[in-house]
Amino acid sequence: MVLAIAAQKPGGPEVLHARDLPLPEPGPGEALVRHRAIGVNFIDIYFRSGLYPWPVERDLVLGSEAAGVIEALGEGVEDLEVGQRVAYTIPNGAYTEARVLEARHLVPLPDAISDEVAAASMLKGLTARYLLHDSYPAQKGETVLFHAAAGGVGLIAGQWLAAMGVNAIGTAGGAEKCALAREHGYAHVIDYKAEDFVARVREITGGAGVAASYDSVGRDTYPGSLEVLKTFGHFVSFGQSSGPVTDFSLADLAKGSFTATRPVLFHFTNDRQWLLKAAGELFDLIESGSIRININQRFTLAKAAEAHRALEARKTTGSTILIP
Ligand SMILES: NC(=O)c1ccc[n+]([C@@H]2O[C@H](COP(=O)([O-])OP(=O)(O)OC[C@H]3O[C@@H](n4cnc5c(N)ncnc54)[C@H](OP(=O)(O)O)[C@@H]3O)[C@@H](O)[C@H]2O)c1
Repeated sequence: MVLAIAAQKPGGPEVLHARDLPLPEPGPGEALVRHRAIGVNFIDIYFRSGLYPWPVERDLVLGSEAAGVIEALGEGVEDLEVGQRVAYTIPNGAYTEARVLEARHLVPLPDAISDEVAAASMLKGLTARYLLHDSYPAQKGETVLFHAAAGGVGLIAGQWLAAMGVNAIGTAGGAEKCALAREHGYAHVIDYKAEDFVARVREITGGAGVAASYDSVGRDTYPGSLEVLKTFGHFVSFGQSSGPVTDFSLADLAKGSFTATRPVLFHFTNDRQWLLKAAGELFDLIESGSIRININQRFTLAKAAEAHRALEARKTTGSTILIP
């Protein structure tokens, strides 16, 4: 049996409870992974609250990112070995001491990438990778806007953009978060709790606007994210930390012949070639020191509800992990 943290039914952090679950043998194409560190992400809150539909009726084990060691392999898994250190990101099931999952999702970890760093960066780092290289490939010398710059995805994205030579404007809530974002690649940071970010972006860009807005805050920021785009600009909406975008209209794009996309990480990671390539790029940037992974909150697995409370209350910066 292994300890797992499951949500009994959709709701607040209080629905999270500990359960002892049996650990099956891995079937064909599967692997049994013993977790050493588990990432906490905003998607866990969307599933817990019921904003995202549940794949089961009750007792959903949350968690979409973890790192650990392969303990057993099912038939037909050719490219992995028992004892190998690996990490993965797939929707749900990671808040547990160990689990069985499809081996095709596992990425072998280089020696230089610790279990904690891997658990803190697989989901967030691969998100930064697809946003900046696939959804809208930002160009050297261009100016782009990235919201929630001091968050888990935000701190990685700022450093990745800086490594690409892109002039990044970040937003963050409060002076401390703004200072942290500035230390992680953002050329300009706007405290969007205290300042009108639309007016500030116009000022910073001399009225020209930005080539792309990467927006994970959703309801509170998306009208402004469209407003600051230059002609032919790109609106990349990838989350809804403040609430979903419900009144978007195609006509919103007519103002500047904008394009809009609403991408999801797992559509990219489902392609194993993309997954291995993108993870390789992420690990290389971490190894070379271009990207530092900030694990600013650690909780035991049993205290997952506390981690959720902190993330929802905007009290976290960088990555949050659970230790089983
Ligand atoms: N589509 C995808 O493939 C994909 C993949 C990964 C992540 N995401 C999205 O990217 C975002 C960042 O994820 P993360 O796990 O790294 O979280 P995070 O950025 O560490 O935390 C969310 C941040 O959003 C900001 N925020 C603004 N309004 C908020 C509100 N009303 N309630 C809570 N937070 C608010 C807060 O920063 P300030 O205090 O600075 O405002 C908060 O710290 C999330 O929206 C997530 O769903 C999407």
